[in-house]
Amino acid sequence: MRKFIERAIEKLPKLDEEQIRALIRDLATEHERIELVLDSMNVGVLVSATDNSLVLVNKAAERLLPFTTHEWYERPVWSAIADREISDFVQQTLLNQESAHDREFTLDGNGANRILSCSILPLVGSGRIQGNILHIEDITEKRGREARLRRAESLASLTTLAAGVAHEIKNPLGSIGIHIQLLQKALQSSMDSEQIDHERMQSYIEVVNEEVDRLNRIVVDFLFAVRPIDVQLEERNLNEVVHELLEFVKYELEEAGIELVANLEEGLDPIHLDEKYLKQALMNMMKNAIAAMPDGGTLRVTTTQRGDDAILCISDNGVGMTDEVMAKIFEPYFTTKDFGSGIGLTLVYKVIKEHRGEIAVLSQPGKGTTFTITFPVPQKEQHLLGWNGDQA
Ligand SMILES: Nc1ncnc2c1ncn2[C@@H]1O[C@H](COP(=O)(O)OP(=O)(O)OP(=O)(O)O)[C@@H](O)[C@H]1O
Ligand SMILES: [Mg+2]
Repeated sequence: MRKFIERAIEKLPKLDEEQIRALIRDLATEHERIELVLDSMNVGVLVSATDNSLVLVNKAAERLLPFTTHEWYERPVWSAIADREISDFVQQTLLNQESAHDREFTLDGNGANRILSCSILPLVGSGRIQGNILHIEDITEKRGREARLRRAESLASLTTLAAGVAHEIKNPLGSIGIHIQLLQKALQSSMDSEQIDHERMQSYIEVVNEEVDRLNRIVVDFLFAVRPIDVQLEERNLNEVVHELLEFVKYELEEAGIELVANLEEGLDPIHLDEKYLKQALMNMMKNAIAAMPDGGTLRVTTTQRGDDAILCISDNGVGMTDEVMAKIFEPYFTTKDFGSGIGLTLVYKVIKEHRGEIAVLSQPGKGTTFTITFPVPQKEQHLLGWNGDQA
């Protein structure tokens, strides 16, 4: 477009009035087309010049953002935005000459809150920075969909859980029934023979007692697994939390003859986490790893950042799992241990999902197991210095 205009300017002295008119008409049509494209987008776009004054606002931006005035042109971008938080964020980012990605803000829109995701990027042309572009997206629906999906997932796991409970309580209930019948028979025969077999009756009562305890444990575990967890997410450094946990389990690992190799990458961006729940989840995984290495071994814990993800790996060289076992480990009540409840990894899964994270497992029988947890880094700021302008 610029080249076309430059050529037109060069030729201008040779053009007659009609040709100039046609040229202006073409330019106006082109301009309208660009405006139309910008206004048809459902993403809000605000463009500022190098002095941070507003030079362009598309229709979606007008709809999404509250403005202080309709006379926004030539004013600093932030002074045109009525929302305090967004205005401060824009001012700070632009004055510090930074970029920002996907910073989330909640706007109170007549009772119904809306969530806006804002990014600020440099506008680069002809190899130099010509201003900034503020990109605004309404992610309320997206967040709602994610929450619905999480609920559907937990509902699906509730069905599995209910089936699991039904299956689990069948055995103790059956056993209680049988032992009560035996007790009745013993009572009857003691009445008939007028001789009470205390020992036998006592043993039946003991079995009934044990089974009642078992039922109680199943119910307690069930409540634990279905209780919605109320995570309080805070911006924290993942390494800090992992480090504290490792300090805590250090002695237990030592006692079990397990060498701990921790590799925590420095300079990780903070993530949103709930310290209490995350520690509980990681503790469950440590316990599983310890149980998988009865004759000792090595536990490797690493953290890294890959793009917008913070990654935590917990790896053991223990007994490992077959594919069949691996497919079921997150299911409630699934256990291969004599005294396991099979709830540990169910909680882990729930906690990681509440952190908007993902958990994956790789395992080989006899070799070991690696759990990889991926947490999203909420937003990343890049300093403009060192930014390659040609990437625009
Ligand atoms: N690191 C691991 N190595 C090998 N197998 C594992 C590992 N972690 C989990 N498992 C398998 O997954 C199963 C389920 O684990 P989960 O933590 O949910 O329950 P559990 O450890 O059996 O009982 P608990 O509820 O007491 O934790 C375990 O019984 C085990 O078979
Ligand atoms: Mg466990």
